[in-house]
Amino acid sequence: MALTSLLLFSLLSPALAWLPVEDWESGNVTTSGGALECVCSVFLPDSTFPADRVQHMQQFTTDLRLEVEIHMNKLVHYQSKMDIFLGELKDLTFRVALMESSPDKYIKLDFELLRTELREFEALVSQLKDHMNSSLPAFDNLYTEIHNMTLIVNQLETFDKNNLEVIRIEFAKLQRKLEQCLKEQDLINPDTSNCNHTGILSVSKPTVIQINAHLNPGYQYGGWGKDSKPVRGFESMHWYSAYSTPSVYEFYLYSSYDKLIQRSTFTHHSLPQGYDGTGNNYIVHGNTIYYQAANPLRMSKLNLTSSVFSHRRLTKANEKFTYTYSSKQYLDFSADEKGLWVMYTTEDSKGKIVISKIDEKSFGTENEWTTNAFKPLVGNAFMVCGVMYATRPGDVKTEEIYYSYNTETREEKHMSIPLQKFQEKFVNLHYNPTDQRLYMYNNGYYMSYHVKFNKK
Ligand SMILES: *[C@@H]1O[C@H](CO)[C@@H](O)[C@H](O)[C@H]1NC(C)=O
Ligand SMILES: *[C@@H]1O[C@H](CO)[C@@H](O)[C@H](O)[C@H]1NC(C)=O
Ligand SMILES: *[C@@H]1O[C@H](CO)[C@@H](O)[C@H](O)[C@H]1NC(C)=O
Ligand SMILES: *[C@@H]1O[C@H](CO)[C@@H](O)[C@H](O)[C@H]1NC(C)=O
Ligand SMILES: *[C@@H]1O[C@H](CO)[C@@H](O)[C@H](O)[C@H]1NC(C)=O
Repeated sequence: MALTSLLLFSLLSPALAWLPVEDWESGNVTTSGGALECVCSVFLPDSTFPADRVQHMQQFTTDLRLEVEIHMNKLVHYQSKMDIFLGELKDLTFRVALMESSPDKYIKLDFELLRTELREFEALVSQLKDHMNSSLPAFDNLYTEIHNMTLIVNQLETFDKNNLEVIRIEFAKLQRKLEQCLKEQDLINPDTSNCNHTGILSVSKPTVIQINAHLNPGYQYGGWGKDSKPVRGFESMHWYSAYSTPSVYEFYLYSSYDKLIQRSTFTHHSLPQGYDGTGNNYIVHGNTIYYQAANPLRMSKLNLTSSVFSHRRLTKANEKFTYTYSSKQYLDFSADEKGLWVMYTTEDSKGKIVISKIDEKSFGTENEWTTNAFKPLVGNAFMVCGVMYATRPGDVKTEEIYYSYNTETREEKHMSIPLQKFQEKFVNLHYNPTDQRLYMYNNGYYMSYHVKFNKK
């Protein structure tokens, strides 16, 4: 793609610009009476020094440098514009969600705004398209989509819940596509492959706010996300589950994020009797759903490849302490760059969260670490690079990541990293190492966030 070649070009250009000149200058060139003579025939085979070629070369490299600079400037311009665009798109998505939750209040104002902003986006994308000389096919699609959305919004003469749903889905798709486009161009580059950082620095505003696939705000207990260690062919698989109580009866799978928001599931698993779950702190890892089975309390998993259920008692874990926002949250599953984990409380820990590493093959637990996070005061917890992070309620719209425990060094830290919420309560919050995002099920709504890390 053009951007890649531009980047390559810029990498090469310092060499093109400086090497030839240095070589010639450091050669043994002597000047006698205006004639140039090259003594060092090893480096330059011509017996007469090619002055005109040097000049030409120097001019050429200057031109190249200029050209590269121009392209690099364009690129920087492009990136910052796209960042702004993405930010505004997120705002729009947020506002559409607001409109849905209380239509009377926001509807008039926001349609006018939507129209204006879409026009601005259209202009911006058109401008960017010219800038980049139409070299990105993604741009053409983007342009068409924004144009299409403008048409949709313009057609909305009256408020209609169905139309709003169309817009919401279109916005969400557009947003994800734009993010994908930026990511492909390496403009947002989460280096997912390692843990070369000293912990979480900040969390973005929510980048997704969507009502659940049942379109039912009453389904307050649930979770969503994507496989944190996908098998081949299921890289973009998303999952979802929800119900009006903490009980868990079923899981829905979607082949992609788009399918999730279009509510078009490719398969659905009901938990058989005796395997029903509770607590909602489930995740999907390695094409396997890990969840807490009820009566008796145990770790349970459904292997989606083989459709085999299995379970394991975790005798140390007790049923005395749950997180702030929901009952029955005794086992909290989490997966990060280092593997699979489960968090719970024990008799000895007296309400403080204990972390255990799960061995995926044997489904047994390995080590155990006792933190100082008192579970009843914790909103939820998740693992990143072997470090547990715990949240606590701030105000109605803010959760705070306030505590971390490093299983490698046994160090704990206190911090104050805000996490913006759409609704006060949430029951499932976890990190996904494949895209370095946090996924939250926020009282009936899907939410997700980008995580920024402190660089070493
Ligand atoms: C340049 O030529 C002079 C005289 O022939 C010689 O002494 C010197 O070592 C040469 N320098 C290089 C860099 O080849
Ligand atoms: C755009 O690209 C075409 C061919 O790829 C080239 O001929 C043209 O000069 C370019 N225009 C600009 C403004 O860079
Ligand atoms: C835009 O709308 C046209 C006409 O409704 C449709 O054919 C086209 O597929 C849409 N394009 C995109 C990218 O959604
Ligand atoms: C980690 O980051 C530092 C500073 O950015 C860098 O020097 C080092 O090579 C990185 N290590 C790895 C393993 O990527
Ligand atoms: C799931 O089942 C497949 C096929 O039997 C097997 O290869 C895989 O290891 C299983 N995964 C887990 C986590 O048990």
